[in-house]
Amino acid sequence: MTKKNKTLGEFIIENQRAFPYSTGELSKLINAIRLAAKVVNHEVNKAGLVDVLGSSGDINAQGEDQQKLDVLANEKFIQSLTNREIVCGIASEEEDDFVAINSHDNNNQNKYVVLFDPLDGSSNIDVNVSVGTIFSIYRRVTPIGTPVTIDDFLQPGRDQVAAGYVVYGTSTMLVYTTGYGVNGFTLNPAIGTFYLSHPNMQYPENGSIYSVNEGNYVHFPEGVKKYIKYCQMEEEDRPYTSRYIGSLVSDFHRNMIKGGIFLYPESSKAMNGKLRLLYECNPIAYLAEQAGGKASDGTRAILDIKPTELHQRVPFYCGSKKMVEKAEEFIENYK
Ligand code: AHG
Ligand code: MN
Ligand code: MN
Ligand code: MN
Repeated sequence: MTKKNKTLGEFIIENQRAFPYSTGELSKLINAIRLAAKVVNHEVNKAGLVDVLGSSGDINAQGEDQQKLDVLANEKFIQSLTNREIVCGIASEEEDDFVAINSHDNNNQNKYVVLFDPLDGSSNIDVNVSVGTIFSIYRRVTPIGTPVTIDDFLQPGRDQVAAGYVVYGTSTMLVYTTGYGVNGFTLNPAIGTFYLSHPNMQYPENGSIYSVNEGNYVHFPEGVKKYIKYCQMEEEDRPYTSRYIGSLVSDFHRNMIKGGIFLYPESSKAMNGKLRLLYECNPIAYLAEQAGGKASDGTRAILDIKPTELHQRVPFYCGSKKMVEKAEEFIENYK
């Protein structure tokens, strides 16, 4: 039986012991992410009291107006990972290019690269609505000890070693997988410790929530329009409930607990939708599959896509298996 009072630290050590040949490198990496999550949580909680709201005045590689907290969260995560010398490379939504990490002795023997979205849902920062951080971890494909190359980052999501997110919500949670199910930990802010609160999370096979920015409706492909109408129809267990926060992490977290589907389709305005394959869709898709859910670009599994660029975007349909299958059916029928 899972003890309710297990800490994330204890959980990481126990899981490492289950693999006798493990070097502990991944455990150290998860520990660094845990620490960075607490630092960013502290910054997010103070927003409004100190000068971290609003735009930084810069535009990121995606052409988005960078918020001050986007920049701060990016710095804190990169700092935490580089100071501990536990990765060989980092890619971030807020960096133009990937960053190769050197070690103090110029001989970086680490095998993992991390890709991340430091602050997800940045349009919600200024209005005190939940935001998050998303991370994705791969084993490098180029030889250890050499500088990382773009090939280390452009790996299909199926090859992820671990992935997860932090949601800075009514409580702060860290949810992650290393390929053996999904576990969620809630931060006790008084003592700064994450506790295992949601062991072995399971995506309900079906659900009654659909999450999409309906303001873009007129630009959606015909199949998606028809699927949305299907969600709204008074038939069987429908109409479904519409819930859209505008922070992928929070929308996904809710749907994974309650059952639902999240859609960010391609549109006549944006051919590949908005969400980033490497920093958002792959890690979320890995979590979805690990919890028994499904993630697709409308026709194929997100995790099977071979990325071609760092900041690549992709249409995203993710959630309860049966709901995603239904959406795919509509997309297929109206091609
Ligand atoms: P980010 O803040 O990291 O740029 O991501 C924002 C993303 C995602 O969190 C959310 O699901 C989506 O953008 C919302 O987009 P719209 O405002 O177009 O609905
Ligand atoms: Mn952004
Ligand atoms: Mn994001
Ligand atoms: Mn972001």
